[in-house]
Amino acid sequence: MRLSLNNKKIIISAGASGIGWATAKICLSKGAIVYICDIDTKSLKKIQKHPLNKKKLFAYGCDASDEYEVSDFFNQVSKKTKKIDALINNVGIAGPTGNIEKLSSDDWEQTLKINVISHFYFTKLAIPMLKKNKGGSIINISSGAGIMGFPLRSPYAASKWAVIGVTKTLAMELGKFNIRVNAICPGTIKGNRMIRVIRDKAKFLKISKKKIEKEFVSMASMNCWIYEEDIGKMCSFLISSDGERVSGQTIPVDGNAIRLD
Ligand SMILES: NC(=O)c1ccc[n+]([C@@H]2O[C@H](COP(=O)([O-])OP(=O)(O)OC[C@H]3O[C@@H](n4cnc5c(N)ncnc54)[C@H](O)[C@@H]3O)[C@@H](O)[C@H]2O)c1
Repeated sequence: MRLSLNNKKIIISAGASGIGWATAKICLSKGAIVYICDIDTKSLKKIQKHPLNKKKLFAYGCDASDEYEVSDFFNQVSKKTKKIDALINNVGIAGPTGNIEKLSSDDWEQTLKINVISHFYFTKLAIPMLKKNKGGSIINISSGAGIMGFPLRSPYAASKWAVIGVTKTLAMELGKFNIRVNAICPGTIKGNRMIRVIRDKAKFLKISKKKIEKEFVSMASMNCWIYEEDIGKMCSFLISSDGERVSGQTIPVDGNAIRLD
């Protein structure tokens, strides 16, 4: 039987582009109702015109790292629904590239604020809506950098390991409410983010972008890029009834990445 998310209500942070938007499109195509927020109002306007938006997509401007804005976003969502089936904590920035002696505390604080603390703002407000629903799913987007070391990207790695710690803890706290909590660790995704990461690393190491790109792809045993839709498909599985006994797990979707350097 084809996996269905019929009328499941799903909140996605940072959903106007990249992995968040690819995931939203997959969930919409399987019948879900999707509530997105993003800081980029231009992209939000664009997605609202998407053909999949048949009164099932709601998009709001919100800086995920600002607790008041996140609270306002939830107020807007609660005008549409009191219950949700899933929260996808997708927001996360790449943070700076460099040796730790050269990184600034501002960069560290910003990376942890957006990649970890913002997840707390969303999760805290989503739990009562999941409890009202008598259960559901929280998916935290971590990274290969949340299960391996990642040279030159220490704040990012710290933030993504933290996401795993929160996931495992919440799965234990919320299991009795039938709320499942899992982390997905995407590998090297073909998209705008990796274009920026490759550019910054090539500049830092003074080698060609082509060489850096080849190295990134070769880190997966399958020697392949991962696509945004691969992450969306894993999210849709975890939210669906097919994933109803999966909780507390760290799930790489990375073509078997064996190193990250
Ligand atoms: N792209 C990759 O290769 C990759 C690999 C592993 C993990 N991830 C993780 O997946 C998640 C999504 O990554 P992506 O590549 O789609 O990201 P991205 O850089 O393409 O950005 C996606 C969206 O985040 C929004 N955003 C940024 N800061 C925000 C804020 N403060 N508040 C609200 N929205 C904000 C942007 O406007 C954009 O629409 C992140 O947590 C990222 O760390 C990505």
